[in-house]
Amino acid sequence: MQHHPITDVIRQRRSVKPALMRPDPIPRETIELLLENAVWAPTHGLTEPWRFLVFEGESRRELAGILQEVYRTTTPEASFRPEKLEKLGRNPLLAPVVIVIVMQPDPTGKIPPTEEVAAVACAVQNMHLTAAAIGLGAFWSSPALIYTDTLRGRLGLDQTDHCLGLFYLGWPKDDVALEGRRTPAHQKCSWHSDQTIGHHS
Ligand SMILES: Cc1cc2nc3c(=O)[nH]c(=O)nc-3n(C[C@H](O)[C@H](O)[C@H](O)COP(=O)(O)O)c2cc1C
Repeated sequence: MQHHPITDVIRQRRSVKPALMRPDPIPRETIELLLENAVWAPTHGLTEPWRFLVFEGESRRELAGILQEVYRTTTPEASFRPEKLEKLGRNPLLAPVVIVIVMQPDPTGKIPPTEEVAAVACAVQNMHLTAAAIGLGAFWSSPALIYTDTLRGRLGLDQTDHCLGLFYLGWPKDDVALEGRRTPAHQKCSWHSDQTIGHHS
């Protein structure tokens, strides 16, 4: 079959962690391009449930403070890890841009929340693929604290909103070479060519 450029973008996209990003700024138009491509994701009932909180510059310090405070106040003592606390304060300052990913459920309740989450994940993948295509690194992080009421409150979100994670963006350091690894599709698929399901002889 003819090779299509989208295949390269999909397969070369990797998660690039903030520690592997350069602090160089990302032009505003580039961030806007990612966000515009995000909103072209499919969405059942055109509810467009995605909301993005973009943190850049000094605001990242405030975000880092919020993440640390929420981690400190919501993590049970038994699972509290000082290195995790430290990382939550460090990561937003290593990446030049951090986007908080939010799903705002359809107020009519017609669309099941699972589908609204799926639509937002499609939007994030649009951003991630766009980033990969232009040589920008990205990383979707989902520490447990994103699911807390405390975090929603501190970010000014509605209590019915779902925070789905933090999307770190930055130019990868020069020597970054990340290997991808996947199970071949055929091990995850079953093919049905004839009428077999529900058809007993
Ligand atoms: C919804 C979602 C949440 C994720 N959360 C985390 C996370 O909290 N920590 C982490 O190390 N990676 C996280 N990842 C990234 C995965 O680790 C990464 O996609 C996986 O290792 C495959 O690597 P690749 O993206 O380079 O192909 C998340 C990915 C998705 C889709």
